[in-house]
Amino acid sequence: MAAGWARPAGFALLVVVVLAAAASADRPARGGLSVTAGAEESSAVFPLYGDVYPHGLYYVAMSIGNPPRPYFLDVDTGSDLTWLQCDAPCVSCSKVPHPLYRPTKNKLVPCVDQMCAALHGGLTGRHKCDSPKQQCDYEIKYADQGSSLGVLVTDSFALRLANSSIVRPGLAFGCGYDQQVGSSTEVSATDGVLGLGSGSVSLLSQLKQHGITKNVVGHCLSTRGGGFLFFGDDIVPYSRATWAPMARSTSRNYYSPGSANLYFGGRPLGVRPMEVVFDSGSSFTYFSAQPYQALVDAIKGDLSKNLKEVPDHSLPLCWKGKKPFKSVLDVKKEFRTVVLSFSNGKKALMEIPPENYLIVTKYGNACLGILNGSEVGLKDLNIVGDITMQDQMVIYDNERGQIGWIRAPCDRIPKFGSSLL
Ligand SMILES: *[C@@H]1O[C@H](CO)[C@@H](O)[C@H](O)[C@H]1NC(C)=O
Ligand SMILES: *[C@@H]1O[C@H](CO)[C@@H](O)[C@H](O)[C@H]1NC(C)=O
Repeated sequence: MAAGWARPAGFALLVVVVLAAAASADRPARGGLSVTAGAEESSAVFPLYGDVYPHGLYYVAMSIGNPPRPYFLDVDTGSDLTWLQCDAPCVSCSKVPHPLYRPTKNKLVPCVDQMCAALHGGLTGRHKCDSPKQQCDYEIKYADQGSSLGVLVTDSFALRLANSSIVRPGLAFGCGYDQQVGSSTEVSATDGVLGLGSGSVSLLSQLKQHGITKNVVGHCLSTRGGGFLFFGDDIVPYSRATWAPMARSTSRNYYSPGSANLYFGGRPLGVRPMEVVFDSGSSFTYFSAQPYQALVDAIKGDLSKNLKEVPDHSLPLCWKGKKPFKSVLDVKKEFRTVVLSFSNGKKALMEIPPENYLIVTKYGNACLGILNGSEVGLKDLNIVGDITMQDQMVIYDNERGQIGWIRAPCDRIPKFGSSLL
């Protein structure tokens, strides 16, 4: 049934449901904090590349190693561990844009390290370390049967900060040498994954532990492709954004603004409150069977005669017009706005206009970019993916325990100095 629709390239869908992150409560107490206490944290901004369609992911270039080499990493707020396809040597790697990262022995993180305990705790709940000198092996399994087997290493990441310093902290990440991907011959758009979840292994938590940035990350994904990613809170528009307290997700440690009621064209769709998570590692949005059905019925019941349902290899539900569409702008008038209304704390609305749930394919059809999550095994979880977060700044603020969003021109990368708030 799903065979017809082309899966976006790379890991975009793979990283939808990664095994859990370590709870932020069990963040290991590391010496770094006391050393840097009192120092001012800074921020870092990175340009993003990629798009929802046709590439199916947004990625960032990071400089890793000594001397630093560039790697493309899939930006994933739905998992904690950053990892690179790796020549350790590699047993099974897909074709990646840059030469494989090559670890040296002195880069291996021993299994007695707090980072290893946190990683294992997050992935399996169990941490086995027979001898202190042993390396830290791990395996991550993703929702669609993809997996990565690897070993934890530390190497330096070169970051240019807003205060114009360049820092090179040693950060722990995975060196993945045995990947099972949906189709192993596929060329990957990225060299690995940038894990930005809230667990202590997350790159973000590590930067905080080093006193470099606050534990705040945000992204602004442009509908025209690209956009920007930031660490730290210097450019966060605190007073203007819509905020919802982070909810402890029932099963895992995802970023969740809690449960939401669903509206279409201003009308409630009468479905049970939906448990929602925000995940930049998912290119599309997924609703579980009940809200998906309700939304599809509402959209179909509301369509004008100008649109006819057609099969399209890109996605399961598509429509054509009298002429092929060139962009979503040609067809948005035919569709209404979807709203998620969060009520964990003060009421917070996320408006999802047609631009944030439709794509126009290379065949000129408009397709629904909200998919049936039950069909891919997401159970009751609803995922707000890239398509819905486009042209908004989305902020995951682990310092204040809140998630925010605000409409923004994402193709304008803030320049520090001018846009410092
Ligand atoms: C910039 O911030 C970093 C991280 O806090 C700090 O280490 C560095 O000394 C700061 N540089 C300047 C020029 O203030
Ligand atoms: C969504 O997926 C579930 C599970 O596969 C299926 O039972 C249901 O019919 C699907 N809903 C729609 C509208 O396709």
